[in-house]
Amino acid sequence: MKGLCLTGWKYTINVLAAMRTADGFGFDDIVIAGKNRLDEEWIKKVARRNLVDLVGGLKLTCLPDLEAVLEFIASRHYEPVLLECKEGEDVDAFDWPANPIIVVGHEVTGLPLNRFPAAPRVHVPMARTAHSLNLACAASIAMHALHLHEAKVEKESV
Ligand SMILES: C[S@@+](CC[C@H](N)C(=O)[O-])C[C@H]1O[C@@H](n2cnc3c(N)ncnc32)[C@H](O)[C@@H]1O
Repeated sequence: MKGLCLTGWKYTINVLAAMRTADGFGFDDIVIAGKNRLDEEWIKKVARRNLVDLVGGLKLTCLPDLEAVLEFIASRHYEPVLLECKEGEDVDAFDWPANPIIVVGHEVTGLPLNRFPAAPRVHVPMARTAHSLNLACAASIAMHALHLHEAKVEKESV
């Protein structure tokens, strides 16, 4: 199992973009916390109409707050890996745990790091002036890194 967690969000387009990548790389869950109301029915309709079979295998779970998200993560035995600017290991060199869930921060407020004290952190190196990537872009890069890691592990096991 592998999952993606958005600890908050502002722009629906970013949620849709992250969902699309998650589906494309075979993620099982996307769990989202937010006081903004995400219209799940609308999202699913857009997904069906524009994004082919986006909601086919990926399960979307919208929860009202971080408490509920932490319970979700624990109940499914996911291992959180925090995607955080400039902290931790380069995401491409990271040795992913089994059952990982990539945790991504809100567009404006970032990640509530204190709520995940024991979780490893990974970053996407930035070369120039921009301090951070767009939420969906960062999430997609990390999902691809995990995807490549899984392919490598599978190849080594045969
Ligand atoms: C637009 S950024 C948030 C920026 C926020 N102002 C901050 O300082 O954290 C949204 C999320 O994308 C992820 N992110 C963006 N750029 C990243 C990078 N270079 N490496 C790792 N994660 C990144 C982080 O999870 C971040 O919380």
